[in-house]
Amino acid sequence: MTGGGDAPGLNGIIESTVRALKSLNFAVVGIRDGFEGIFGKQFVELQHCDLTGLHAKAGTLLGTSNRTAVQGRESVFLDHLSQLNVEGLVVAGGDGTFSALRRLSDQLKIIGVPKTIDNDLAGTEITFGFDTACEVVSDSVDALRATAEAHRRAIVVETMGRTAGWIALGGGLASYADAILIPERPFQRSAFLNFVLEKQRQGQRGLLIVAAEGARAEGEDVSVAFEVADSPQKERFGGFAEKLSRWIEAQTSWESRHVVLGHLQRSNPPTTTDRFLTLTMGVEVANMVSEGAWGQAVVYRQGRVQRAPLSDLMAPARLVSPDHRWVQMAARLGIFI
Ligand code: F6P
Repeated sequence: MTGGGDAPGLNGIIESTVRALKSLNFAVVGIRDGFEGIFGKQFVELQHCDLTGLHAKAGTLLGTSNRTAVQGRESVFLDHLSQLNVEGLVVAGGDGTFSALRRLSDQLKIIGVPKTIDNDLAGTEITFGFDTACEVVSDSVDALRATAEAHRRAIVVETMGRTAGWIALGGGLASYADAILIPERPFQRSAFLNFVLEKQRQGQRGLLIVAAEGARAEGEDVSVAFEVADSPQKERFGGFAEKLSRWIEAQTSWESRHVVLGHLQRSNPPTTTDRFLTLTMGVEVANMVSEGAWGQAVVYRQGRVQRAPLSDLMAPARLVSPDHRWVQMAARLGIFI
C-alpha cells in the first residue's frame, strides 16, 4: 500500500518489493489509493508484467491518498483487511500514514517504508524522493538565474517541505542560491534587507532566493494558503514567496518576481540515488517478510539500509537543527540563511 503524498521512488519500492517477494514465491496484492482502497476493497494482484520500467516513473502504480482518516473506522479497516487473507501489510507512507496506523500496529502485521520528499520523517536519515525534489529545485534555480540576471531582478523560488526546510536547504545549496530561508530559522527582515542591498551595491545583476513554503520572518506566522478538511495535516502552506517578492520590490530598487515549484518537486523521474535507495529497501522488505520480521521498518542510517522498530517512524518530525552542518556550510559560502 502507498499512502500520503506521492514521492518519486514509490514505484521503485513497488517494483523492487514485488520482484523480490515473487522470487521468494510469495503472491503480492496491491491496495489501491492508500487507506481508501482498504475501505473500498480496491485490491489488485501484482504480477511481474505490471512492473516493467516502473522504477523510472514518478507517482505510484497503486495510487495514493492523504485525505482518508482511519480513526473511528478501525474495525472496518481490520475486517476488510482480514478478508484479504494476507500474511501482512507493507506500507510506504509518511508521518500521516504511520500516525494513523499507530492505534492498529499491535493488531496488524506491518512493515513500514518511510516516504516523503520532505525528508523530515523520524527514524531515518534520508527518505526517498528527497534527492529528486532537490534536483528539481537546483535545476530550477540554475535556470532562473538567466532571466534574473537579464533583468537585474530578484527571484524568490518557493519549495515544498511543510514545517521542514530540508528541500530548500538541499536544493538551495546545490544551486548556490544567494539566500535560503527555512522554517527552522525565522529570519530578521532588517538583516535580510541589508543583505539584499549589499548584493545590489556589489553590482550583482540577479538575486536568487530559495524559500521553503513554511519559512517566516521572526515574530510572524507561517503563510497558510488553504485547508484540506479531512487530511491528517489540514493546513497547506503557500504565499510566502509572493509576499516576500513584493516586499523586496517595495523596500529596494530591485525588481522582484516569484516562482512556486509546487508539485513539480514530486513529478520528476527518480534520480539514481533514489532508485538505488528504493531498490535496496525493497529487497530488504522482502527479506523481512520471509523472516516474519513484522512490526519493523526499513530505514537509512550510517550509510546503509537497516531495520528499526516501526514506532521509530511515529516520532515527531525530524527538522533541520539551526546549527546543522549544512547551515554552517551555507554561511561559510556567504549564503544568507
Ligand atoms: O508532505 C509532502 C508534501 O509535498 C509537502 O511538502 C507539501 O506541503 C504537501 O505534501 C502538499 O500536499 P498536497 O499534495 O496534499 O497538496
